[in-house]
Parts: sequence; structure tokens; C-alpha cells
Amino acid sequence: MFEQIFTPNPDAEKPTPIRPRKGVIIGVGQVGMACAYSILIQNCFDELILQDINQEKVQGEVMDLRHGMPFLSPTELKGGTVADEGKDADMVIITAGAAQKPGETRLELVGRNVNIFKGILGDVVKYCPNAILLIVTNPVDILTYVTLKITQFPSARVLGSGTVLDTARFRSLIGHKLGIDSRSVHAYIMGEHGDSEFPVWSSAHIGGTKIVSGEWNDLSNSEKEELNNIFNQVKNAAYDIIKLKGYTSYAIGLGVTDIVKAILQSHERILTISTLISGLYGINDVCLSLPTVVNEKGALKSVNLSLNDLEKEQLLNSAQVLKDIFKQLDL
Ligand code: 2OP
Repeated sequence: MFEQIFTPNPDAEKPTPIRPRKGVIIGVGQVGMACAYSILIQNCFDELILQDINQEKVQGEVMDLRHGMPFLSPTELKGGTVADEGKDADMVIITAGAAQKPGETRLELVGRNVNIFKGILGDVVKYCPNAILLIVTNPVDILTYVTLKITQFPSARVLGSGTVLDTARFRSLIGHKLGIDSRSVHAYIMGEHGDSEFPVWSSAHIGGTKIVSGEWNDLSNSEKEELNNIFNQVKNAAYDIIKLKGYTSYAIGLGVTDIVKAILQSHERILTISTLISGLYGINDVCLSLPTVVNEKGALKSVNLSLNDLEKEQLLNSAQVLKDIFKQLDL
């Protein structure tokens, strides 16, 4: 009945088909939906599929977001699974799992979420064998490692959101304190996305000027306290937000989108994603965050950032904390 609306131009050629970029988000809780919203408004994929065991929730979320499409560049948004609409996706982003309760550490979640992952990953391997997997569910470093073991995918294609968010929190706090745009703060949080993470003060700089110019031990007590205070706000951010509003969502959604864009647009950006570490700083066979170059193939290379003795010790401690947890798992 709509034929009368247009008059086709007989000379017009058919558009050349371009392979659509397809993403799947597994898990439509607060984090999954913050990722979906941010990914949609930044127009990352041509097709975005939302998957969850709660299909009514998926249906409601898809309807709600679709009604906003006239305000955005188009993305084909659908409910589905990796086995149907999401088959052969370029990226699968996993946010599914139990969330942290107030006061609960990310590592205390581990058993519950490993079982959920065992149920999800079989189909991911079968139907999206070439996808880059981005793990967001906590404890993210452990689940990135679990995903690597279960899927047997090359480690370059199994990434965790890691300390991308903590690094953003760190930069935002420093930027706020100094009254400058946080994008001009160059500073990293490395290690576990969790209680054993640490700030790399020795190389943190602004406009080519180190924030901490000398050795840590030469700082006065009040200087150390000021720096520790900033880091403690980073480390405790999730606990504080969860106590106040029940969960964290917007900042991780933006962080995940940043990783997705770095991959799809092959930006070769340096991001503190969690990846398998093999031989760096004497660490092997554990997933944690170091500054890593990310492009369309996934994790391309790590930056050989020089750390002072305290930071090296903190990195080894973080690796050990994660290994100890992993030893207790029954995979
Ligand atoms: C966060 O850091 C809970 O891991 C989540 O916000």
C-alpha cells in the first residue's frame, strides 16, 4: 500500500552492500543497559543484539530504545541470542551475572558468576567463533581468564574492561583537583579491577610535567596523604556508589563504549584493559590490567611502562591475589 509514496529513479544504482558491524550484549541489567544506551548513542555498530535469560525484559528494553531511534544515527536493534540474530557477531560483550551487594567485594562474586559463564560461553564459541569478547561482569579479571580457558580463543580476542573505569575515575579526580580537563591527565590504575589495584604515580603527568616529581619515600606525610586520599576515592568508588544508589552503571557504560570504539575503528588506543599476561614484569598466566594498545584485532601489545619498586611489588601482589582466587575455582 505504500508504493505511491515514492517514484523510483530508474538510473539509480543499488547501494553496494557493506558488511554490517554486529555486536551482542549478553545481560540487560543496569550495566548491560548503560552499555547498550551509550553504544547506541555513539553509533558503534550497524546491528546490536540484546540477549538475556529474561526475555520480557529484553523485549521491553528493545521497545524503549527503538522509540528513541529517530533522535540517533540508525542502529538495527533487536532482541535475540548469539545463536540466532547475533550469529557471527564482531564483538560479544558480556555483562551477565550476579551483581555486587552492598559491602561485598568483587572477588566474593566469583563462584556465582563462573557458573553463569559456563552456561553462556558454549554458544558464543559455536556461533561467534571469530568475535572479540569483551568481559565486563565482575570479578572481571577472573572471568576474563575463565573465558579464555573455556573458549580457547586466542588471548588477543578475550579482553576484560579491567581498570579502564578506575583509570577514568583517577583522571577525573586529578583533573577536578587541578581544574583541568581530565582527558589531559595521563595517569593509570593497573593490576586487578578491585581491592589490590594500584596507582602508577611515578609516571603520572600533565602537560609533560610529572605529578610526583621525586621518589615516593621523599614525599612529606601530608603529600603522601593527599595522594593516598585521591587513590582511596578511586579504590572505594564502587563501594561508595553501591551504598548510595545500589549499583554503578553510567561510567562503566561509557568505558565499555570507549573500548568498543577503539576496537571497531582500530584506533590503536592505549587502554588499561584486562588481558592475559605472559612474561611481563615476571608475571605469567593471569589476566590483569596494564596499558595495552587496542585495535581491530583486539589486544595488540602492552606498553613497557617502567614502574618503581613499590609499584612492581603492588603489581606482583595483584597478580598473586588473582592467582590465589583462580586456584580455588572448579572449572
Ligand atoms: C565498578 O567499579 C562495580 O566494578 C564496578 O563500578
